[in-house]
Amino acid sequence: MKKGLSALLALVLIMGLLAGCGSKEEETVKKEESKEGIDYMVLVNKLNPLPDDWEDKVETVHMTNTVGDDVEVEKKAYDAYLKLKEDLEKEDVHVDLDSARRTVEAQQEIWDDFTEQYGEAYTKKTVAQPGYSEHHTGLALDLYLIIDGKDVVENEDMIQYPEIWEKIHAKLADYGFILRYLKGKEHITGYGYEPWHIRYVDDPAVAKEITDKGDTLEVYLGAVKDTDPEIDYGKSELYTEEELDEAMVQVKCQFASWEGCELQALRYAGDEFNTEENIKWLNESAEDKTYSKVIKITSDFHTPKSGYGSFEKDYDYLDYEWWLGCDEEGSWDIVQMGYN
Ligand code: DAL
Ligand code: ZN
Repeated sequence: MKKGLSALLALVLIMGLLAGCGSKEEETVKKEESKEGIDYMVLVNKLNPLPDDWEDKVETVHMTNTVGDDVEVEKKAYDAYLKLKEDLEKEDVHVDLDSARRTVEAQQEIWDDFTEQYGEAYTKKTVAQPGYSEHHTGLALDLYLIIDGKDVVENEDMIQYPEIWEKIHAKLADYGFILRYLKGKEHITGYGYEPWHIRYVDDPAVAKEITDKGDTLEVYLGAVKDTDPEIDYGKSELYTEEELDEAMVQVKCQFASWEGCELQALRYAGDEFNTEENIKWLNESAEDKTYSKVIKITSDFHTPKSGYGSFEKDYDYLDYEWWLGCDEEGSWDIVQMGYN
């Protein structure tokens, strides 16, 4: 059942998150920029950059947060946010805006700061590449918490308050917001769980439908199909299941963009593939990276009736291979895929 597909060099774009900045109440609208309508359902993610004409269409406002930072937000999203905030205050939950709209240059600064501070591997998982951040739209808002009058802005501190986030998340849809980076959906969104990153989609009915289904925006818009393959970790003395999961997420993530294909199974092929010879082979295919370990994963999937790319139509592919290399920072890249 060799299909003779040539192995492809795959660059899995995983990126990530942006951390806290600061703030000081109360919001003051300083400026308005009014233009034409925008698409509130726009998809900006690791595969879809900010649309070219966005800048000409978006209307924004500026506010000052409790630590005195200027935050720019899309106009309707800001009005909705103020209503959400007011509603939350009735339950003694206090939030403010850490960051909303960012220019490509601002995102680049964040990317560079994170790379310097935490290294490339963490940055890729937590900060979007400039041009590919939903924050460019002005519709993505990073909240921070104010607890007993104190600003809680750092991600590692904010994550300590799951019960507060639960109260916040329960109200998002009423004001046209969704939680964008859900737990366990890294393979779809490309990012880990971010309880603070909310996204304005305008229509509360749409927000409610997405929230009730536990969907990501990608799946709701039909841009990707969520996959729940059978996982076989096999037996490994080299890797824990968590480490194998890290590699498998890369495969699921790549697979998610294969329109109409259904991923049925992922299997760890075994420690015996982590050989010097295979490491050398991966390093020869990788342009500017050096890998020190290799993982081979095999997969079964079914292609759609209409076909996908150069694959056979309506066909069961078995044992399709994914070869991943572990870079110096410990993160896994898909380097080769296909039948080898
Ligand atoms: N935190 C999100 C992924 C961003 O950097 O746009
Ligand atoms: Zn964010």
